[in-house]
Amino acid sequence: MTVPASIGDYRALARRRLPRMLFDYIDGGAYDEITLARNVQALREVRLRQRVMRDVSSISLSTELFGQALSMPLVLAPVGLSGLYARRGEVQAARAAEGAGVTSCLSTMSICSIEEVAAGVRAPPWFQLYMIKDRGYMRELLGRAAAAGAPVLVFTVDLPVPGARYREIRAGLTGALPPAARLGRALDTARRAGWMADVYFGGRPHTFGNLVAALPQAKGPSAFWVWVKENFDPSVTWDDLAWVRRHWSGPIVVKGILDVEDARAAADAGADGVIVSNHGGRQLDGCLASAEALPAVAEAVGERLTVLADGGIRSGLDVLKALALGARGCLIGRAWAYGLAARGEAGVAEVLELLRRELMTAMALTGCTDVKAANRHLLV
Ligand code: FNR
Repeated sequence: MTVPASIGDYRALARRRLPRMLFDYIDGGAYDEITLARNVQALREVRLRQRVMRDVSSISLSTELFGQALSMPLVLAPVGLSGLYARRGEVQAARAAEGAGVTSCLSTMSICSIEEVAAGVRAPPWFQLYMIKDRGYMRELLGRAAAAGAPVLVFTVDLPVPGARYREIRAGLTGALPPAARLGRALDTARRAGWMADVYFGGRPHTFGNLVAALPQAKGPSAFWVWVKENFDPSVTWDDLAWVRRHWSGPIVVKGILDVEDARAAADAGADGVIVSNHGGRQLDGCLASAEALPAVAEAVGERLTVLADGGIRSGLDVLKALALGARGCLIGRAWAYGLAARGEAGVAEVLELLRRELMTAMALTGCTDVKAANRHLLV
């Protein structure tokens, strides 16, 4: 490949550079990956109105989310283990986002801590939280995120238990592998010389920065899933959101809403926003694609809450489609993870620039000159 022109090209670069186990972790989804594919397909099927002769010489992409000015309506979604895709990857991604005038959301399950990422940028990232059984530890995490300056809390609710992901099981990420498979994995990893030098030897990848007190050293690739299974709280209900509300003074965005009743419950429980999401097809396989769920959720709670969406966004054209379906802004997951794995901070910056250019073009061809005005009138 000479010049990467699409998110698919960055995916191909990431596949070449990463150990297979890690590529499968990013790229895969739950069960037969029906929802993963449907997320992409449902956006492809959206039809936009082509409009002409509307003076599109000047187009504004800038917007604002939770009081934060953004150069375009995009946020880097929380993606766990990003410090394994490139050296101190969460810092690199946050810097790329800031350079592009947008922001990022740091996962609970990141290699770099919230303090390290906040220190690497001017404006600290949003912070994503999972419900952990030990409420004292959660309170400590919330305190750390607030002290680091995280302006928005993303509370992820679609992972009371991890979805079954066949690629992760085969890769040995969920439990021990038989010796022959372990040897195969070690040989595959050792072959990725660029990754070995950058991350394995140079990236201090064995510690989860937000969890050092709870999980001091991840011994082996499955340590993290074992920890998740033991410590995530499947008893979580809307009362727990009220608990989070009491311990977080800034905006709270509930991530993982597909159902209108859940969206209303989130609003009633004090959320400021929701992210229409199925975790990128990594949890319930066979649920609605994000683009299918979005219009009804936006209709139901769009007046009360900031409605964001993620899942399947692979181009700037997809971003415009999600806005037309009712989102105020979008998050991207795999798109930036591929960029980071391919070329570090520069790769994420390139991915964001690609999406920006494509969004501009899509707006010009639909005759929409202000991204804040993108709505269902753009749809056929
Ligand atoms: C995720 N996602 C996720 N979400 C979250 O709230 N906390 C997390 O730690 C993670 N980790 C994670 C790892 C990887 C490798 C992926 C691909 C995704 C879900 C993520 O935030 C987002 O919802 C999806 O990635 C959106 O779908 P696309 O853009 O990847 O299609």
